[in-house]
Amino acid sequence: MNILITGASRGIGRELVNRFDNGINKIYAVARNVEGLEGMDNIIPVSLDLADIQSVREYFKNLDVKFDIVIANAAISLPHSPSFTPFEDFKKTFDVNFLSIHAMLEGVVSKMEKGKIVLISSLASLVGAPSSMPYSASKRALNSYAQSLRNLLAPDIKVINILPGFIKTDMTDKNDFYMPFLMDLKSGVDRIMYAIESNKKEYAFPKRFYYLIKLFNLLPLSIQDKLLQKVSK
Ligand SMILES: NC(=O)c1ccc[n+]([C@@H]2O[C@H](COP(=O)([O-])OP(=O)(O)OC[C@H]3O[C@@H](n4cnc5c(N)ncnc54)[C@H](OP(=O)(O)O)[C@@H]3O)[C@@H](O)[C@H]2O)c1
Repeated sequence: MNILITGASRGIGRELVNRFDNGINKIYAVARNVEGLEGMDNIIPVSLDLADIQSVREYFKNLDVKFDIVIANAAISLPHSPSFTPFEDFKKTFDVNFLSIHAMLEGVVSKMEKGKIVLISSLASLVGAPSSMPYSASKRALNSYAQSLRNLLAPDIKVINILPGFIKTDMTDKNDFYMPFLMDLKSGVDRIMYAIESNKKEYAFPKRFYYLIKLFNLLPLSIQDKLLQKVSK
């Protein structure tokens, strides 16, 4: 199989490369820093800055590969902050976490006949936390995109939207707040692989955290707001 994984240099993406690297699959591994991915059989390192939308469009338009699985995993999260996000930081978050995915798929989807497109969203998409406004908003946009794309490309191309909770990676190592239900990388990627293998349309985990968030979203907005303001102080 031809497999494309973004954010392949570290964390969840790097572990996904390991899981799919069976000596037969050909893995296109995208990140800015691909040093650790060089010189390996079957892995094609692709050094690309996903914030550079025009380069992303051009690279994938010109790449003559029919992918079987595409995993849009790369994302950034600014440090949590109670201040209003500067526009440049907000735009960069949207470019990397959201717009680069469409820029990439524009060149990729037309060459796919069958296969899977996996989007890595987040449980953070289900709550608009004031301290991580661009991240939550970019992932919420991705949820809507996933629903549209799934129905646009059905039945030949399966679209799988995955909403993980906290997983121990560089992204969460910089957080200085309590992260409920924090999972280790292996357990988190086990769940992601399960969702991919079983063609889940949408898969949120861990379930206990997901149901707590669902309950939170059933509360009256006045109570939700009080809680959100309290935890983000
Ligand atoms: N960890 C969690 O708790 C958690 C929870 C929910 C969802 N997620 C989602 O899971 C995915 C992976 O997260 P992670 O925790 O593994 O993050 P991570 O450890 O910070 O790794 C991020 C990956 O994205 C790449 N990347 C970042 N900016 C890029 C850019 N401009 N161009 C190209 N590549 C770029 C990084 O590579 P370079 O720096 O080399 O470019 C790296 O390989 C993300 O979509 C994240 O939102 C994570």
